[in-house]
Amino acid sequence: MYNASVYYTEVYMSYDEGLGYTEGLGYDDRFDFDEITPRANTNSLKYDFARERGKPDGVLPLWVADMDFKSPPAVLEAMRRTAEHGIFGYSMPREPYYKALATWFDTRFGYHISPEKVVVTPGVVFAIATAIRAFTKPGDGVLIQRPVYYPFSQMIIMNDRKLVNNPLVLQDGSGSGAFDSGGSGTSCGGAPGGGSGASCGSGSGALGGRYEIDFDDFERKIVSENVKLFIFCSPHNPVGRVWSRRELEKIGEICLKHNCLILSDEVHCDFVFPGNSHQVFAGLSEELADITISCTAPSKTFNLAGLQISNIIIANPKLRVKYIKELHSAGYSEYNIFGLSACRSAYEFGGAWVDSLVRYLNGNLDFLRAYLTEKIPSVKLIEPEGTYLTWLDFRGTGIPAAKLDDFIINKANLWLDGGTMFGEEGAGFQRINIACPRAALTDALDRLAGGFAQ
Ligand SMILES: Cc1ncc(COP(=O)(O)O)c(C=O)c1O
Repeated sequence: MYNASVYYTEVYMSYDEGLGYTEGLGYDDRFDFDEITPRANTNSLKYDFARERGKPDGVLPLWVADMDFKSPPAVLEAMRRTAEHGIFGYSMPREPYYKALATWFDTRFGYHISPEKVVVTPGVVFAIATAIRAFTKPGDGVLIQRPVYYPFSQMIIMNDRKLVNNPLVLQDGSGSGAFDSGGSGTSCGGAPGGGSGASCGSGSGALGGRYEIDFDDFERKIVSENVKLFIFCSPHNPVGRVWSRRELEKIGEICLKHNCLILSDEVHCDFVFPGNSHQVFAGLSEELADITISCTAPSKTFNLAGLQISNIIIANPKLRVKYIKELHSAGYSEYNIFGLSACRSAYEFGGAWVDSLVRYLNGNLDFLRAYLTEKIPSVKLIEPEGTYLTWLDFRGTGIPAAKLDDFIINKANLWLDGGTMFGEEGAGFQRINIACPRAALTDALDRLAGGFAQ
């Protein structure tokens, strides 16, 4: 079995000591994603707050975006060592922290992050709210593309800015009319070591369409609604798109032309299925890096959301100064010692774990697709190119959109995220989190099938 401790010699372990990077050591037998770790009675938002949130006891929760997997062994070890040290005073990131972050993005995305560009914040949503306040005034337009991660809307509205929506367009899946239909493929049936390899492509039982950007509407709204900031979700939660280079370039061209800043939320960048690749938006050109605030975090990738740590990359020094001033004016200037320690060890030593995890998730995706095809063909999977959140289209089931949440909760005994949470465009959809042991996913799908059988 994998023994993380061999890699470390001190509390704040690093590769300065020649301990090496785990990449390429082989990983299949070292991480067991089938292991069930009970989470009830751990103050887990996902598991312990059903009643407070109006859900009946006994619902299986596959809603909020955290995973039912323990963090990588290296992170657990770092947490143990930090705890055992016993003193939890103020802390700051040092050079090895930045080195671990930079190596991760250099190696995986060909994107270089120099330390002076990094601003540490307690989470991405906090970073988004800070950007809204730093770069726009009350009443200014801030654009999003619904259906999208709901805190985007909340942060715009709660900060008294004008929400401008450029709805994504669901194409029928045949590829016709797609801006970039030949670009990134889907993972259908191509899973290395994956499951069933269920049939795929237009016409197959479980597959729904593909979401595209309406660029004419995007540009028109930026101009007519005086949009100062575009909050971009890349990869996109919940529709699962990993945007192609051409799409990103088109966005960049329009934003440059109309002086619109871009906040690129790339928190899901490490979850990309075969056939797709994530391009860091700010890596497209220096010109674009200059108008971009990139949000990165180890929280989704390594399941660290409760540690509240994210790294915001701002290349433009003027924007960075403004941003930091806003951050400090909110009283945030010291960092969580566990968050810093976890982030560093995750990026330093967690590569093999993540590669293994993505393979497992791809297997879960194959399983989900095959299950729907065989047993619930009226529910269509919007094939995700990335993220561990899948978007299911229930519009062909005959259940009215207004009654869908009730069906999911009370007939299927599941707690998912209802589609309209992501905007009215999500009516008739549900988002299911597949980052769980396959046994739990099987239970969820059996419950869903059972709901339809009633
Ligand atoms: C697109 C996106 N951004 C941000 C977050 C949350 O980030 P944080 O917990 O760091 O605020 C999530 C969580 O699901 C997300 O999907």
